[in-house]
Amino acid sequence: MTTSQPLDLLPDSSTSFLSPYLPPSAPSDRVFVTLTYAASLDSRIALGHGQRTQLSGSESKCMTHYLRAHHDGILVGVNTFLADNPGLNCRYNIAGKSAVEASPRPIIIDPTFRCKIESRSKSMMAAASLEGKEPWILVSAEWRNSVSPSDLVHIQSIERMGARVIPVVGLRSDNRNESWAAILKSLKELGIHSLMVEGGARVINDLLCTAVDDINGAKISPVDVVIITIAPVYLGKNGVEVSPASALDNLYDITWDQFGRDCIMASFNKKLRADF
Ligand SMILES: NC(=O)c1ccc[n+]([C@@H]2O[C@H](COP(=O)([O-])OP(=O)(O)OC[C@H]3O[C@@H](n4cnc5c(N)ncnc54)[C@H](OP(=O)(O)O)[C@@H]3O)[C@@H](O)[C@H]2O)c1
Repeated sequence: MTTSQPLDLLPDSSTSFLSPYLPPSAPSDRVFVTLTYAASLDSRIALGHGQRTQLSGSESKCMTHYLRAHHDGILVGVNTFLADNPGLNCRYNIAGKSAVEASPRPIIIDPTFRCKIESRSKSMMAAASLEGKEPWILVSAEWRNSVSPSDLVHIQSIERMGARVIPVVGLRSDNRNESWAAILKSLKELGIHSLMVEGGARVINDLLCTAVDDINGAKISPVDVVIITIAPVYLGKNGVEVSPASALDNLYDITWDQFGRDCIMASFNKKLRADF
């Protein structure tokens, strides 16, 4: 069981800085997506593949947990799950809410169930000790339809502990637009109205260049807000790089603030994507 300490509260100046970028309180017809991660000065998010790398200082870590408290779901790719074994809960104390209520739903994109999540995984332990919610693992419908007997036993055992393995039609590694449309549609149907996407690099790079159809059939970016922590370190050329496939200049209403030794950039992302 985990028994983690609550984090310090952010000063009013920091919560005021973040407040314009928080998801709206009333849900809309699509999922509100906040893309947020910590990067080095050379746009790396980890020292190397599979290497857990602490980049954020205590103040920006606190900000991340504050943001988690304002989202229904928190999503990572399976490589991040495997590298970092993240708890994906909220340790920011929100008045009147228990840790479970304040925590977003952990969501792992994992088309072929490589995560092999188990009771000792941090996110499962957080849920078992009432410090977070049980994770959902999004797998491809094709994989789920031909699941092996041993994987089926594994799924049944984690589902008994409250986790869910959710087949998503259209979830596939080789078509990011179709895949993200399918992910967001499924999550919306499951009651996730706001989603914080934390990484890793593949997820971030893909999401920045993805276009999905809005209700009128226009191509839009699924990303509403981008909040990036920039840590004053270089991780070097072997680091895991955030660099989308094409140049982008979509951010607006950009604000910068300093949290401890880190710099935070918060901005909105243009929705309409005429370039797709
Ligand atoms: N500094 C930070 O803020 C931060 C935050 C998070 C992670 N990280 C770091 O990032 C690194 C991991 O990044 P990564 O790029 O290797 O992996 P990742 O983005 O965590 O996971 C990528 C995998 O997730 C699945 N996936 C992602 N998007 C998908 C989509 N749209 N449709 C279907 N499947 C999808 C694929 O699994 P399959 O290959 O099975 O198809 C893909 O290979 C770790 O070192 C971690 O520590 C840093």
